[in-house]
Amino acid sequence: MKTIMTQSTVLLAAVLVFTMGPVKVRAETGNVAPQEEITIKGKKPARFNHTTHLDLGLSCATCHHDADHKPRTAEDIGALADTAELKCVTYHNGDFTVPKLRKAKDVFHARCKSCHTEGYQGRKGPKKCNACHLKKKKAYEGC
Ligand code: HEC
Ligand code: HEC
Ligand code: HEC
Repeated sequence: MKTIMTQSTVLLAAVLVFTMGPVKVRAETGNVAPQEEITIKGKKPARFNHTTHLDLGLSCATCHHDADHKPRTAEDIGALADTAELKCVTYHNGDFTVPKLRKAKDVFHARCKSCHTEGYQGRKGPKKCNACHLKKKKAYEGC
């Protein structure tokens, strides 16, 4: 019995060593759209929910593209080594070639607000500031 236990422990350890490698690699390269709401950080943080938007039938490329403005597919995103590539302000900042797409406000309002106004397949999105922007915390909170 003891020998069997030892053997299975060794086997288990071997299996763990064998599988830990691929698991780590997957964590680095298997990026998927977050299911929970995320916060787009900036001076005026805003909420964004991938699930709501993907349920509309949008593809990743509606919002994600590379530096040459080539659309990014789910596979392209999955293979990225660094998700900072997906943060709009990593590129859309004071150095961006097109002056009118240097400010976070202009970039996000152009992409988010224009679709909410024009609609997608007949469905419009919210346009009120606080539908997207998080309300500021009251001063007494956290005291
Ligand atoms: C459909 C979503 C959406 C709506 C509606 C919206 N915004 Fe925004 N806005 C964003 C996102 C996303 C950002 C980028 C987050 C950031 O830069 O802090 C942003 C950025 C901004 C910024 C830039 C912050 C900075 O960097 O200086 C300002 C100011 C702003 N919004 C004001 C407004 C006002 C005022 C309204 C209402 C008239 C409004 N927004 C409505 C999504 C929205
Ligand atoms: C309607 C717009 C939109 C669509 C469609 C969309 N995304 Fe995103 N995604 C965003 C925004 C906005 C962010 C946050 C960017 C930022 O912070 O500057 C983001 C961030 C991400 C991140 C980084 C999350 C993090 O917290 O680091 C991943 C991964 C991602 N998206 C994957 C996907 C995949 C995969 C698809 C397609 C299946 C997809 N997205 C479709 C708008 C979108
Ligand atoms: C191509 C069209 C399109 C784009 C681009 C888009 N949206 Fe939307 N969004 C919609 C529609 C349509 C709805 C309404 C969905 C519903 O009623 O189920 C919506 C709903 C929302 C809502 C309310 C429901 C929820 O998910 O909490 C928020 C907040 C929102 N969008 C934020 C954003 C932000 C921020 C961006 C840009 C990063 C963005 N959207 C880009 C079409 C779009």
